[in-house]
Amino acid sequence: MATEQENKRAPFVVEWRDGFKINIQQTDDEHRHLFHLVKALDLTTIDKTLEELLEYVVTHFSNEQALMEQSGYPAFEQHLKLHEEFSAFVGEFLGSSSEWNEDRVQELRRFLNKWLIGHIMTHDMRFGKWFGSHHGPNALPVQATQAQRGFLARLFGIR
Ligand SMILES: [Fe+2]
Repeated sequence: MATEQENKRAPFVVEWRDGFKINIQQTDDEHRHLFHLVKALDLTTIDKTLEELLEYVVTHFSNEQALMEQSGYPAFEQHLKLHEEFSAFVGEFLGSSSEWNEDRVQELRRFLNKWLIGHIMTHDMRFGKWFGSHHGPNALPVQATQAQRGFLARLFGIR
C-alpha cells in the first residue's frame, strides 16, 4: 500500500478506455494514441516527448477538423474554436517558462488528460453520433493538408 506522500508524487496516469470511443475508427485510433503520448511525457525526456505530443495533437486536430468539414458537420466552426482555445492555452503554458520539474510535468499531464476526456466525451462524442446518423458507420480516413495544419501548429509555436 502506497503512503500518502508516494501517492502525491505518483504520476497522473489515465489509460485509454473503450468508453471514450466515438465510433469513428480513425478518430478513436488517434485519441488512443494521444493518451499514450500524454502518458509518455517524462521529465528526463521532456523536450522529445513534448515535441512528439504537440506534433500529434496538430495532426489529430487537423484530421478531425478536415473530417468535420468534409462531412458537412453543422457545429464545425464551434468545434474548431474549442481546438484553438486549447492550443492557445497550451501554447501560453509552455511559453510561460522553459524550466521543467516533476510538478510542472504532472500539471501538464493532468491538464491534458482532463481536457481530453472532457472534450472527447462531450464534443467529439456529439460529432460521432451526428456522423453515424448522417453518414453511417464507415468514415473514410482523412489526411489534413499542410495548410490545414499550419494555423494550429503556429499556436503551439511549432512552425
Ligand atoms: Fe475535437
